[in-house]
Amino acid sequence: MSHPKLLDILNATVYRDEKKVFDDFSLSIEYGQSCAIIGPNGAGKSTLLKLLSREIYPVAKNNSFVKILGMEMPTLWELREKIGLISADLQVGFVPDISGLGVVISGLHNSIGLFHHQEITELELKRGEKILEYLGIKSLANCLYRQMSTGQQRRCLLGRALIHDPDHMIFDEPTSGLDLSATYQYLDILRKLLGQEKTILLATHHIHEIPPEIERVILMRDGKIFADGCKTELLTDQYMSRLFDVPLRVVALAGFYQVLPA
Ligand SMILES: Nc1ncnc2c1ncn2[C@@H]1O[C@H](COP(=O)(O)OP(=O)(O)O)[C@@H](O)[C@H]1O
Ligand SMILES: [Mg+2]
Repeated sequence: MSHPKLLDILNATVYRDEKKVFDDFSLSIEYGQSCAIIGPNGAGKSTLLKLLSREIYPVAKNNSFVKILGMEMPTLWELREKIGLISADLQVGFVPDISGLGVVISGLHNSIGLFHHQEITELELKRGEKILEYLGIKSLANCLYRQMSTGQQRRCLLGRALIHDPDHMIFDEPTSGLDLSATYQYLDILRKLLGQEKTILLATHHIHEIPPEIERVILMRDGKIFADGCKTELLTDQYMSRLFDVPLRVVALAGFYQVLPA
């Protein structure tokens, strides 16, 4: 069976408020192809991911489209089941007095918190518990969200995205604000997901966060694709220095990369 492309963008023009962020922007990502989207602040990484999650729409015009899994007009429900989304934005807006298990189950109701009128079934509870276990955070089941550390909250939110068992997952700066240990715990989970055939799109400006399993990197700058291709060809001193506008040196070790001042 042949799958539609995960993302197929042709000549998209995108405004955020008054600002034209993308002008005739084109990009396609094959089904099943995990990618890292790399670039400095303001490059347009989040805007790209928000096009994919339908939080932002392109300007309607001829010879232009944004197709997600082959669909030009997917419903939010179709999207949520197929594509899980984790961003730091979501973390801030969450209802504070909800338990860890509640956060995970709230994903089924697409709400940012469980409310009394939403009945939770035994099956949903079981599913939520299984996910907490998978993420190694069973101990957070009854903890209150507001009492959790940023890293613990972030892992619960990942659980929330996983409750639909989506084939694709979008991570926008998933480790922002996390300390080293929380960062690496998070990245371990990312690698576990990649090992289970999940497709991951990861936007970050931290080169060391790109899991070895991800081959394709899309370098973005000023709302444009600066370069797009294989990690081994693009994560070089030259590309990184030009991308971030500062002299950099890239070191590679065991499939991971790191940049240092040159
Ligand atoms: N709500 C907004 N209103 C106006 N401009 C915005 C808004 N959000 C983002 N932008 C602008 O869009 C550009 C791309 O931003 P963004 O996609 O958030 O970049 P990145 O995620 O790579 O840091 C930036 O120039 C930013 O200032
Ligand atoms: Mg961003």
